Amino acid sequence: MRPAIRPAAATDLDPLAALDQVCFGDSAWSAESWAGEFARLDTDRVVLVADEGAVAGYVVLLVPAVTEDPVDLLRIAVAPAERRTGIGGQLMAAALQRCAGRQVLLEVASGNESARVLYRGFGFEEISRRRGYYAGGEDAVIMRWQEKVS
Ligand SMILES: CC(C)(COP(=O)(O)OP(=O)(O)OC[C@H]1O[C@@H](n2cnc3c(N)ncnc32)[C@H](O)[C@@H]1OP(=O)(O)O)[C@@H](O)C(=O)NCCC(=O)NCCS
Repeated sequence: MRPAIRPAAATDLDPLAALDQVCFGDSAWSAESWAGEFARLDTDRVVLVADEGAVAGYVVLLVPAVTEDPVDLLRIAVAPAERRTGIGGQLMAAALQRCAGRQVLLEVASGNESARVLYRGFGFEEISRRRGYYAGGEDAVIMRWQEKVS
C-alpha cells in the first residue's frame, strides 16, 4: 500500500527526529533543530511526511514568503527498509507540486548517488559545486529545479 503524503502535525516531531537519526546518523538534526523547524511551520517551513501508520519518510522545504526567492529543499529521507519502493519519489512529487512557478534549490553530496539519481529524474540540474565542502573532501553539488513551461 502506498503511504499517504500529508503535512506534518505536532505529534510527528519525535518520530521525525528519530527517523532523521536513523537516516543521517552524525549529520542528523538535533531535537532542538527539529523543534525549530516545527516552530516555523506557520511561516516559511513545509514538512511533508509519508504516513503508513508510522512515518516512513519526510521532506523539509524552506519556502520564503517572497515568491521570487527560490525554495530550498533542506532534507528528504526515507526509512532504510522502505527505500526503492517509490516513497522518495512520492515525497518529491508532492513537494514540487507546492513549488509551482518557483525555483527549487538543493545541496547534495557528490557521492550520494541514490539522491542524485532521484533528483535528476525530477528534472533537477547541477548548477554549481563547492569543492571539498564536506568532511572527508566530498564535493557539495548544488542543483536547481524549475518548472518546465510548455
Ligand atoms: C534518496 C532517498 C530519499 C530516495 O528515496 P527512495 O524512497 O528510495 O526513492 P524511490 O524509491 O522513490 O526512488 C525513485 C528513483 O530514484 C532513483 N534511486 C533511488 N535510490 C536509488 C539507488 N540506491 N540507486 C540508484 N537510483 C536510485 C531511481 O531512479 C528510483 O527510481 P526506480 O526505483 O524506479 O529506479 C533515500 O535513498 C534516502 O533516504 N537516502 C538517505 C537520506 C539522503 O541521503 N537524503 C538526501 C540528502 S538530503
